[in-house]
Amino acid sequence: MELIPLSLTSAPRRAVRSDDPTTPLAPEVAAPALSVEFRDATRSFGTRTVLSGIDHHVAPGTITAILGPSGSGKSTLLRLAAGLDQPSSGSVLIDDRQVAAYDDRCAVAFQEARLLPWRSVRSNIELGLPRKGNPDVVDRLLELVGLEEFASHRPREISGGMAQRVSLARALARRPGVLLLDEPFGALDALTRIKMQSLLLDLHRAAPATVVMVTHDVSEAITLADTILVLGNEGSGPSQLIRTAYVDEQLRSDPVAVDALHSELLACLGVREP
Ligand SMILES: Nc1ncnc2c1ncn2[C@@H]1O[C@H](COP(=O)(O)OP(=O)(O)OP(=O)(O)O)[C@@H](O)[C@H]1O
Ligand SMILES: [Mg+2]
Repeated sequence: MELIPLSLTSAPRRAVRSDDPTTPLAPEVAAPALSVEFRDATRSFGTRTVLSGIDHHVAPGTITAILGPSGSGKSTLLRLAAGLDQPSSGSVLIDDRQVAAYDDRCAVAFQEARLLPWRSVRSNIELGLPRKGNPDVVDRLLELVGLEEFASHRPREISGGMAQRVSLARALARRPGVLLLDEPFGALDALTRIKMQSLLLDLHRAAPATVVMVTHDVSEAITLADTILVLGNEGSGPSQLIRTAYVDEQLRSDPVAVDALHSELLACLGVREP
C-alpha cells in the first residue's frame, strides 16, 4: 500500500493514504495508553550532571517530541522513561507508578533497527511479543507496516526503511502503553523518512499508545507531535527543559504559524537561520 508523501514543513497531522485502511487494533492487541511523568528528574554521571530538574507530564495517547542539541541528554531522558536508566534524584512515573528496570509497560525503538540477521522479518517481530502473547498479532502488524510479502525475508534482503518498519512492528508487538522512539527515522533518506512519519501516525491511530520520540528534526517534531519539549542549557551547565510548545491541527494548517514556530524552535536550539 503506497503512502503519499507529506510536505516537510506544513504536513497535515493525519496521514494521507491511498486506501486508508487503518482501523484500531483490538484491545487485546493494543494496550491502553499510559501517562508518563518526570518529577524533578536529574541524571548525573560521576560529577557531571547531564539533566537537571526535568518536570513534565505526558498525557496518555499523545505524541511528544524531544528536541535538543547533540549531547543535551535526549537519549538519557528517554532511557529514564524506559527504565533502562535511573534518575540520580527525582523520579519518573508511568501511569502514576515508578518506572521499573526494563519496564514492560514500554517499548523502545532506536535509530538503528537492531534486527537479528539470522531471523526472518516475521520472527524478528515475534521477538517483541510478551510471554503468552498472541502470535496472530504479528499478521496484523505485518499488514499495518506493509510487509506481508516480506515476512520470510531476512534483514539483509530488505531496505533500511523496511527494517525500521520491522523495528516499529516489533515494538508494538510488546503491546506497550508507552512507545519510546530514539531518532527512529534519523538514518533514513528524506523521502523514506516522510513516508515513515505518515506510517507512525497510522500506527498511532491503530494502536494509540503514548509516544515519546527524540528527533533532531524540527519539521518532523511539528508534523508529528502534540507537544514539543526542547532541552538546552545556559553555558556549560546541565540541560533543562527550556521550552514546551503545544501543536494542534489549527496550527499545523497555518503555514505562517508553522514557520514562526519552526524559527522559534531553531532559535531555542541555537541555530540562526540564514
Ligand atoms: N552511561 C553514561 N556514562 C557517562 N556519560 C554518559 C552516559 N550516557 C550518557 N552520557 C553523557 O550524557 C550526555 C548526554 O548524552 P545523550 O546520549 O543523552 O545525549 P543526546 O542528546 O541523546 O545526544 P545525541 O543527539 O548526540 O544523540 C553526553 O555528554 C554523554 O556523554
Ligand atoms: Mg541521542
